[in-house]
Amino acid sequence: MNKSAKLTIDTNHKKFPVSPSLYGLFFEEINRAGDGGIYAELIRNRSFEDTIIPERCEVEGCELHSPAGWVSPFEEAPGSIPGWHLRKDAEESKASISLDENDPLNSENSLSLRVELEDVVDKVISVYNEGFWGIPLKKNEKYNLSFYAKKDGNFSGNLEITLENKKGEKLSSIPCEITSENWEKYELVLESTAEEPEGVLAFSTSDKGTFWLEFVSLFPQKTFIERKNGLRPDLVKRVADLEPKFLRFPGGCFVEGFSVETAYRWKKTIGDLTQRSSHWTLWNYRTTNGLGYHEYLQMAEDLGLELMFVVNCGLTCQGRPGEHIPLEDLDDWIQDMLDAIEYANGPITSKWGTLRAENGHPAPFNMKYIEIGNENFGTEYNVRYKRFYDAVKAKYPEIITIWNTHWEVGTETKGLPVEIVDEHFYADFDYYVMYSDMYDTYDRNGPKIYVGEYAMILGEGAGKLKGAISEAAFMTGMERNQDIVTMSSYAPLFANVQHTNWTPNLIYFNGTNSYVTPSYHVQKLFAENRGDIVLESKVETENRFPSFNGGMSFREIDLPNIKAINISSDEKSLFRSEYLTKEQPGTCLEWYGLRIGDSSWKDYTVDMNAIIGLQGLKVRFLDSTKEWQQNYFLWEFDSNGENRLVHINGWSRVKLSPNQALNVNPDGHHLCIKVTHDSLYCYLDDQLIHEYKIAKIPYLTTVSTLDEQNNEVIVKLVNASEYNLETMIDIDGKVKLVGKQIVLTSDDPNQTNTMEEPNKVIPIETVLQVDSNIYEIPSFSVVILKIAL
Ligand code: AHR
Repeated sequence: MNKSAKLTIDTNHKKFPVSPSLYGLFFEEINRAGDGGIYAELIRNRSFEDTIIPERCEVEGCELHSPAGWVSPFEEAPGSIPGWHLRKDAEESKASISLDENDPLNSENSLSLRVELEDVVDKVISVYNEGFWGIPLKKNEKYNLSFYAKKDGNFSGNLEITLENKKGEKLSSIPCEITSENWEKYELVLESTAEEPEGVLAFSTSDKGTFWLEFVSLFPQKTFIERKNGLRPDLVKRVADLEPKFLRFPGGCFVEGFSVETAYRWKKTIGDLTQRSSHWTLWNYRTTNGLGYHEYLQMAEDLGLELMFVVNCGLTCQGRPGEHIPLEDLDDWIQDMLDAIEYANGPITSKWGTLRAENGHPAPFNMKYIEIGNENFGTEYNVRYKRFYDAVKAKYPEIITIWNTHWEVGTETKGLPVEIVDEHFYADFDYYVMYSDMYDTYDRNGPKIYVGEYAMILGEGAGKLKGAISEAAFMTGMERNQDIVTMSSYAPLFANVQHTNWTPNLIYFNGTNSYVTPSYHVQKLFAENRGDIVLESKVETENRFPSFNGGMSFREIDLPNIKAINISSDEKSLFRSEYLTKEQPGTCLEWYGLRIGDSSWKDYTVDMNAIIGLQGLKVRFLDSTKEWQQNYFLWEFDSNGENRLVHINGWSRVKLSPNQALNVNPDGHHLCIKVTHDSLYCYLDDQLIHEYKIAKIPYLTTVSTLDEQNNEVIVKLVNASEYNLETMIDIDGKVKLVGKQIVLTSDDPNQTNTMEEPNKVIPIETVLQVDSNIYEIPSFSVVILKIAL
């Protein structure tokens, strides 16, 4: 079925230039994006540390318990040797492999692999590494192997080193003699005679005795621009094709960690590879830090990107729950940040600039941005932010700093000096379309906005065309407001299909191949088709009403502060109680607190008396949260009485009405919430203080820019509806639409790409020749028109 819409573009009304840095990359060590991903190392567990339990943590079964009580997967048993195996050609041979902590190579490499060959019965015994789900080998390509080894006096030292295919057939073979009973480094080049996606590297012998291996590394010679310790060229191409302008690195929660020891410390990630510490990440695997601080700087330079380093501001991930570096110890962490800037930008004569030169890069990297913390919030954050901010500005006034407001989306800065705010959104389809105009009303005099992480992750369509369409709708809003929304980056960027911590992502890969999601195509299309000036335009479109339903919920700590609660609908009582306790009939205890009512609740009124405690108060209503998939409205009070009305969806929030002040009465207040089919009202002591008319979901969202050089208008059209939209496109009264059209759509909005079918949802470019100004936008599509003026 068709509907109609109208778009009027005024090419004479030029609003502002496009933001040159609107589209960038956010690279995080998550989903094995680095180790086992873009970092071209082919050996998994190269220094045998993968199952070391992080300090102050405990492992029970397959679970890791952090000092603060966070529980996360720990898949391989402590003491096991992931990636490495023993193979005996004769059943009767006796041999074993084990981790050895005696005689470490150095203080950063506490473990080596001990290979004990007791009885080999004239047959071959091998120890082999299977890489990251197979070592991909290419015919006639060369691989640099390096390792440390030593032997005992009983072992001849004779080894055969081979690259093999899955069946155990040799594709490359080289003899090697271990000569010393002390650690020695060995470096060899192996050339593969055949193609093999799932090869192995084996060390074999038919002699008895014991030998040890440590820091076994295998790199293809063909890394991206043949850099040593380099990157996988096919994956670099995927990101380069996005035409990004900056690189935010290296996280994300990866920077925060869940404990002080799992936080990112850049100084441990530079210099000689064997001197770097590996560390357990909050994404449930150990990083070698081979892709270290210097390599990130180099990656950005090689791709022509501006640099944004995210520093840990003395807080670990506050949701897991956080560990705070005491304020008196913060100077060390601040100094780390200043040293990181000096390493990137300082003169060759400075301490850290000298080290940069020794590491192969005498010229400065010109880092531009420092983000102070990731997704940190609250008073603990604000006080730390100010200390970091002052320190940067005192020494490097030219560096642009970025503030987090994950939980406080809006442009209030609590009186702090803020240049750019990093806002993150992980939400459902409706959220992105319904709030696609949120930046239209942002304060033009406030800080600039960086939408540093976003993706449609919740509900039907996540990772599919539908999800990409909702993101595109939101991106039209970013582009219409790129005078303030100056930067953005989708998240996450990469996922190894064998180790995906988080979905969806832009690029999925295995050892040899990759495919991209519809969201990738949206990112690419938007970045490729920028124009120069944002034009004034007006869209007239139908819309649909979002449907919200669900009960009430309260945090457990708030329960003693709620009295005489009465919930009714059309004079019918839904729930009534003098007190709230955890075991009350009609309630249910969930991970987020006590739930009252269910998803059938729609229009209702809540009356209650409440004390605003030291922890503030959170009243959730229309709460349809299922497991971790959050969706509710929140009347939120800080302990000082400041309160606001927000919508929480997924891991995103949007503020629906301005903050209100309240003089807190320790005896309590009367709160009343009225939910009607299209509005929300919050009364405090009988006074209406928040009122919100629920936003509708537009079918069509758009943005138009002028490409001055090509004298054309670039029109981005996002149809987030099930209808084809017969759209009148009025560009200064033009009667024909001539130029190019690029369309991303599918018969099924829940279609996506896979490794097997990578081209199910791809953009199609054709000539645009319409003899009128009516253009039909397909249902669920993203369309880019380049119309000649
Ligand atoms: O992008 C995945 C994660 O989402 C990031 O690490 C974090 O910043 C956010 O919560």
